[in-house]
Amino acid sequence: MAGRLGGKVALVMGAGSSGPGWGNGKAVAALFAAEGARVFAVDRDLAAVALTREKIRHAGGVCSDAIADVSQSAEVADVVSRCVAEFGRIDILHNNVGIVAPGSVTRVKEEDWEKLFAVNARGQMLACRHVIPHMVEQGGGVIINVSTIASVRHLGFSYSAYDASKAAVNAMTRGIAVDFGPKGIRANVILVGMMDTPLARGGIEAAGRAVDDVYTSYTKSIPLRRMGTAHDVARLALFLAGDDSAYITGAEIPVDGGLIARSL
Ligand SMILES: NC(=O)c1ccc[n+]([C@@H]2O[C@H](COP(=O)([O-])OP(=O)(O)OC[C@H]3O[C@@H](n4cnc5c(N)ncnc54)[C@H](O)[C@@H]3O)[C@@H](O)[C@H]2O)c1
Repeated sequence: MAGRLGGKVALVMGAGSSGPGWGNGKAVAALFAAEGARVFAVDRDLAAVALTREKIRHAGGVCSDAIADVSQSAEVADVVSRCVAEFGRIDILHNNVGIVAPGSVTRVKEEDWEKLFAVNARGQMLACRHVIPHMVEQGGGVIINVSTIASVRHLGFSYSAYDASKAAVNAMTRGIAVDFGPKGIRANVILVGMMDTPLARGGIEAAGRAVDDVYTSYTKSIPLRRMGTAHDVARLALFLAGDDSAYITGAEIPVDGGLIARSL
């Protein structure tokens, strides 16, 4: 399929969605495929990743899927090998997986702290660790790690483990950009803002609050006066995955409607 990613192979970790509609990873996988990439979609949730695969195939794209828990090195190594065996290479690694747990450092459960670092930080590290040797061998590649604006600003919600684990992703990505730039690998971070996704809606509903009320209050602080969507994230990922960003690496780029540009 022709397009901005024609001929490329993309491995998308966390390509399912936490509920019906468009999560960030699902939207990225679908847009990459629509732009010509052959997509290898991975998730721990078999049904969710199968939905992504079918959506892509229905639109005429190429997609295979597999399940893995990104915090388990052997499982990540296995899906990386399967992607290379099926498609011959990996040009783009998109690390979307991220989970949340609430609490300041005095309130967060210690097991939640460990779990978030295992999935959010270690999970993205493992994917990079197993993919980079293939990228080095083939002469280059692109890594896109998904973080949050909460890793660089306190947003008024105390999610200490989440914020810190995503800050680790930012620092790791800078290191990858410097260490592997000479090998032709670019690595950048997307700082996701307040998006209207199934994950966000589920979190608000689980807290017993009305989604519309919460979104109305959020959007008062967002300069562009709307919630973001998974497609806003996907369009930035497409830019970072393709040659239009050929001289951009080691960057942390917000997609947040201007939220962190404000001081209050
Ligand atoms: N939605 C927002 O408002 C928002 C804001 C800031 C950052 N983010 C970031 O965006 C990313 C996710 O967004 P989304 O809307 O796609 O969420 P999502 O929950 O819909 O999708 C994430 C996918 O990751 C999968 N997953 C979870 N743990 C896994 C594991 N251990 N191994 C493999 N797969 C696993 C889930 O099954 C799910 O399909 C995360 O990195 C999150 O931190 C989202």
